[in-house]
Amino acid sequence: MKRILIIGATSAIAAACARLWAGEGASFFLVARHAEKLASLASDLDVRGASAVATFIMDANDTASHDAMLEQAFARELDIALIAHGTLSDQAACEQDAALTLREFTTNALSVIALLTELASRFERQRAGALAVITSVAGDRGRPGNYVYGAAKAAVSTFCEGLRARLFRSGVSLTDIRPGFVDTPMTRGLALPRLLTSAPETVARRIKSGVERKADVLYVPFFWFPIMALIRHLPRAIFKRMRL
Ligand SMILES: NC(=O)c1ccc[n+]([C@@H]2O[C@H](COP(=O)([O-])OP(=O)(O)OC[C@H]3O[C@@H](n4cnc5c(N)ncnc54)[C@H](OP(=O)(O)O)[C@@H]3O)[C@@H](O)[C@H]2O)c1
Repeated sequence: MKRILIIGATSAIAAACARLWAGEGASFFLVARHAEKLASLASDLDVRGASAVATFIMDANDTASHDAMLEQAFARELDIALIAHGTLSDQAACEQDAALTLREFTTNALSVIALLTELASRFERQRAGALAVITSVAGDRGRPGNYVYGAAKAAVSTFCEGLRARLFRSGVSLTDIRPGFVDTPMTRGLALPRLLTSAPETVARRIKSGVERKADVLYVPFFWFPIMALIRHLPRAIFKRMRL
C-alpha cells in the first residue's frame, strides 16, 4: 500500500492521479486551501478504495504553516509526495503590476521551492521515496504570452535539476512533470488547440507510471517532448519575432 502526500490535491490533474492510486488502495495525506473541495475529494477517494485519507487545509503561500503540515504528513514514512498547486498568471495584468508578478512567482515558484526544500530533507532521512512536482512545458522557453508563469516554472525545473542530483545518493527520486495543454479549471475559457489538449485522466495515467518508475523529467503527454525540443532549438533571432 502506497502512502502518498499531495499538496494542491484539489487540482484537477492531482485529483485524477489520486483517483488512480485510490483504486490500488493507497493511503493519502491531502493538502489544499479550500475545505469543501478537499472534503469532497477525500470522500470520493474513500469510495474508490483508498485505505485511509487525512486532510490538511493550507494556503501554499503561507510558508509559516508548511512545517506543521509536514509534521503531520510524516507521522509515518511516505512513499510519494506530489506538489501540484499553481495559478495560470494573467500575463497582461502582470506586465502592468510588479506586485502581482511577484505574487504569481511566489505561488508558482517560491512556495514550491520552500516545500521541496523541506520535503527533500525528510525524504533524504528516510533514504527512500519518490518526490514529484508539476511544472510545465511553459518553463522550457520564455514566451511573450506567458513568461511570468513560464519563468516561475523554469525556476522550479532548474531547482529540481540540482536537487535531483543531491537526492540520487539517498535513493530518492524527483520527477519534474511538464504537462502541455490540459483541460482543467485553470485553462477554462482559453482557446486551446483541440488536438494538443488532453484530459486530466489521460495525463494522470502517465504521471502515475512516471512517478512510480522514478522518471527524471516527464513530458505529458509524450508528444510534448518533440514539440518542446523543436521550440527550445529555434534560434533567438527567429523566436523573438514569433507571436507565441
Ligand atoms: N492545465 C494545464 O494546461 C496545465 C499545463 C501545464 C502545467 N499545469 C500545472 O498543473 C498543476 C495543476 O493545475 P490544474 O491544471 O490541475 O489546474 P487546477 O485544477 O486549476 O488546479 C490548480 C490548483 O492549485 C491550487 N492553488 C492555487 N494557488 C494555491 C495556493 N496558494 N495554495 C494552495 N493551493 C493553491 C488551486 O486551489 P483552489 O482550487 O483552492 O483554487 C487548485 O487546486 C499546476 O501546477 C499547473 O500550473 C497545468
